[in-house]
Amino acid sequence: MPRIAYVNGRYVPHREAAVHIEDRGYQFADSVYEVCEVAHGFVIDVTRHLDRLNRSLGELSIAWPMARKALTVVMREVIRRNHVTDGLVYLQVTRGVAGRDFAFPSPDTPPALVVIARKSNAATIAKRVESGIKIITVPENRWDRVDIKTTGLLPNVMAKQKAKEAGCQEAWFVDEDGNVKEGGSSNAWIVTRDGVLVTRPAAHGILRGITRTSLFDVAEKLGLKIEERKFSVAEAKAAREVFISSATTIAMPVVEIDGTTVANGHPGSVTLSLRQAFFDVAEKIPA
Ligand code: PDD
Repeated sequence: MPRIAYVNGRYVPHREAAVHIEDRGYQFADSVYEVCEVAHGFVIDVTRHLDRLNRSLGELSIAWPMARKALTVVMREVIRRNHVTDGLVYLQVTRGVAGRDFAFPSPDTPPALVVIARKSNAATIAKRVESGIKIITVPENRWDRVDIKTTGLLPNVMAKQKAKEAGCQEAWFVDEDGNVKEGGSSNAWIVTRDGVLVTRPAAHGILRGITRTSLFDVAEKLGLKIEERKFSVAEAKAAREVFISSATTIAMPVVEIDGTTVANGHPGSVTLSLRQAFFDVAEKIPA
């Protein structure tokens, strides 16, 4: 059965799906994206994801490609046509197609929209949750507006490749003061000796992850305290637990940082309880 993508108004098999060579997403990474989890046949936290899409588009003065409600319909249709019950739905909006020129094209240039859905590999995820993941740290080298979810992800690509070559699954960007910013595709968390969750404030310098936001709700439900403050790599290495969050990993335990074992080297109970409660607390709409 072929996979089906939505590309600018049409549902097409992947092998026929194509975008224009002068699409500004292709030429300048002049585009934004969202990834939503699909779990047990539900799209997770779609309201928050589309709110963030709205912000990303607004910050870059890119128009909505279609009405928000219609976009939800397209996302669900792509999920349905690909028979995804557990996986993800990816959407990308670019500033559209125009002859290569750095400044914006004429305002009547329609934005381009691609939507893809993909099944996840339950066995791989289960294995990672059971063993925990390993991460490396790299110096922050991204632009200042990483709060906007753009497809300009080359530093993230390089960092995550470096992690992979080191036998790790994520790379944390670290600021000049030795404090952790976030992962190449996830937010960073620690649990202190006192059981307090710590994550960097999202006002500036990191992406405000939707999973991060929803984990605040989960923590409240579980009666866990959260402190939004910076933490150093050294503090993370000495923490009771470490984990990352994203739409594709939810809360994923970290058991090693730059070769140093975290706590006893096994996933922590706080992380696993957050992970377990997540689905019940998050927003779910039937796919
Ligand atoms: N990445 N920080 C970065 C740099 C990210 O790319 C992501 C998500 C997050 C977590 O955000 P959220 O909880 O909304 O998924 C934080 C997605 C999953 C990706 O690029 O595939």
